[in-house]
Amino acid sequence: MAIKTAQDFFVDELKDIYSAEKQAIRAYPKLAKSASSPQLKEAFQTHLEETKGQVERLDQVFEILEKRSSGKTCEAMKGLVEETSEALEEIEKGPILDAALIACGQRMEHYEIAAYGTVVALATAMGQEEISQLLSQTLEEEKATDQKLTQVSESVNKEAIGDDEEEEEDEEGDEEEEDEAPPAKSASKKSASKSAGKGKK
Ligand SMILES: [Fe+2]
Ligand SMILES: [Fe+2]
Repeated sequence: MAIKTAQDFFVDELKDIYSAEKQAIRAYPKLAKSASSPQLKEAFQTHLEETKGQVERLDQVFEILEKRSSGKTCEAMKGLVEETSEALEEIEKGPILDAALIACGQRMEHYEIAAYGTVVALATAMGQEEISQLLSQTLEEEKATDQKLTQVSESVNKEAIGDDEEEEEDEEGDEEEEDEAPPAKSASKKSASKSAGKGKK
């Protein structure tokens, strides 16, 4: 067995993330190209650029550890990217595909959030402050991307279900009614006239 110490495990986790990031860099241009919503396109493009910076941070981490970054394939990210390809094959371009792309993108981000959470915790536990700092920056970017995608999904989902019209407000309850006193027992000469709804808008 190649993994014996916490340090071995740490490096193995980092290699997995490195592979995941490289795959994300290949996948994100496809997502950006396939998105119809300009907001979504931009979110994917922005994160593509961010991801390139994240790989540079990992390069720094491997340098500090004096380890090689290669040697592992992240099978989980491979699967997530494959699911994205399936969506692209099965759904024509438009708001429903956008909703599917957000679903795929968020799965990728959640995977990364889990992975970076693990290595940040390990780095902190091992007293590797500089590494912990670098990985924390990436973790925050992944979380922000996830939130951004949630935000974009609000308009995308409305379009996907065909509900992008403004709802009209009900105008009930503003008629001016005059409260009639209950008719007196002695035959009142005045007939109880119904209030005329003259004040209606
Ligand atoms: Fe990433
Ligand atoms: Fe990411």
